[in-house]
Amino acid sequence: MDVFSVLQTHFISVVLGIIIVLLLWKNRGKQSSFQRLPPGPPPAPIVGNLFQVDLKEPYKYYRGLCQKYGSVCTIWLASKPVVIVSGYQTIRDALVIQGEEFNGRAEYPLLVKSTKGYGLLVSSGQRWKDLRRFSIMTLKNFGMGKRSIEEKVLEEARSLVKAFEKHDGALFNPQDLLSNSVSNVICSIVFGHRFEYEDPEFLLLYNTLSAYFTMLNSSLGWLYNTFPKIVGLFSGKTKGLLALLEKSHAYVRNQAEIRLKHLDANSTPQDYIEAFMIKMIQEKDATKTEFHYDNLLGSVWNLFAAGTETTSSTMRQLLLMMIKHPHVQARVQREIDEVIGQERSPCLDDRSKMPYTDAVIHETQRNMDLAPTSVPHKVMADTEFKNFHIPKGTMVLPLLSSVLVDPKLWKNPDNFDPENFLDEEGHFKKNDGFLVFGLGKRNCVGEGLARTELFLLFTSLLQRFTFVGAKPPEEIETTPACCSFGRMPRTFDCYAKLRA
Ligand code: HEM
Repeated sequence: MDVFSVLQTHFISVVLGIIIVLLLWKNRGKQSSFQRLPPGPPPAPIVGNLFQVDLKEPYKYYRGLCQKYGSVCTIWLASKPVVIVSGYQTIRDALVIQGEEFNGRAEYPLLVKSTKGYGLLVSSGQRWKDLRRFSIMTLKNFGMGKRSIEEKVLEEARSLVKAFEKHDGALFNPQDLLSNSVSNVICSIVFGHRFEYEDPEFLLLYNTLSAYFTMLNSSLGWLYNTFPKIVGLFSGKTKGLLALLEKSHAYVRNQAEIRLKHLDANSTPQDYIEAFMIKMIQEKDATKTEFHYDNLLGSVWNLFAAGTETTSSTMRQLLLMMIKHPHVQARVQREIDEVIGQERSPCLDDRSKMPYTDAVIHETQRNMDLAPTSVPHKVMADTEFKNFHIPKGTMVLPLLSSVLVDPKLWKNPDNFDPENFLDEEGHFKKNDGFLVFGLGKRNCVGEGLARTELFLLFTSLLQRFTFVGAKPPEEIETTPACCSFGRMPRTFDCYAKLRA
């Protein structure tokens, strides 16, 4: 070995040694507060349990851990503990019974970066309470849970049917049309208008969103969330994404500035942005207010992103399931023909008379398990839970996935089976374990809107078309394409054949 190689080897050892000492120094004193954390696999120095986690399907690894260590357990991502909470009762005890402590939002770097730490989805404490109360009230004022939103969704359903008809029975990928349609419902609330698919402003927002979710669900995104500084330094992809996000925020800011010209505190708001700005004007002299531009841009992005990707992914998975299970599709169409017929559009009142269709939608959501670890929470204070101690600020993952496949809750947990939501007489059967929208005070604010969209869009499409895949059903794969954060469905081509 030459002198240079010897020096190089020593240099690396010295640098590693210094890093270890610095990390131990940084964590000194923290050790005692970590002593009563829930159990988990022993962490290695520096990296913790990082190399044991399956980056493609972390939630499966977490499920295995909870079977081994109990319904609350701990893993270490590098030097940070993450507490996993699993099973219906334990998740309920955390998010409902001890909700005040468990309802903080963890500082998950990609979520935080997307809005610079502002907005409803990423905030905690008083800021979250103020933004959540305002957002729920404003969404209701713009029709969420009322007839007016039903009409808006039906308008989108009609445009969607027309757009599918244009493919004239030829093979096509339905993804962009579904996303555009779902997105238009939340856009009409937030921006006050819908977009045509080719609209460059919509394409900017939509392309940013697609790039964002692709990153969030990739192994690179997972690494970024664990080592944001190091990965951010070297990854051109994350830099590109942040630049796109910047452009989208500039669009929203511009929308706000246009409104500022004609707005006064007494005018009736026409959309979410205007309602927020009126609140900004009303509170401009308050010593402390959460109604300012940063929270406006953050909340608008949160509503647009959460309101588009989740529901459109579910719609995509619903069509994929129809292609995979033609007998299920035929039974939904029979129910549509009996209850709605071919002469009129579906309406929400039909849902209670269509138990099988309702069960198919629920079962698709249960089986696809879109957000297996929900959106990461954190505890807002030092917390005693099930005889363990969780220090303030610790990230908590509610493992919704564990409930959605719990054999004690479902007749057939491992397969797609609408019978999971039907009783012996074929009536729709509610199940407390249906946690796809989360639980407690931090649950999804768009649940009512999503459920309206899924029912009306799905029944409108199946009233008009039969969906057939490019391959025979037995060759069609329905497991998600990537699974790190959300279990997003695969992209696929299909035929939309006009029903006779
Ligand atoms: C099938 C569709 C949807 C699913 C499966 C879904 C699921 C979820 C889940 C699991 C959470 C996290 C709950 C938690 O932190 O414990 C969440 C939060 C949220 N969702 Fe949805 N969601 C859907 C549709 C929507 C829609 C249409 C909107 C638009 C209004 C929306 C807006 C939000 C917002 C703003 C939050 C953050 C709430 C907060 O932090 O307080 N979601 N959603």
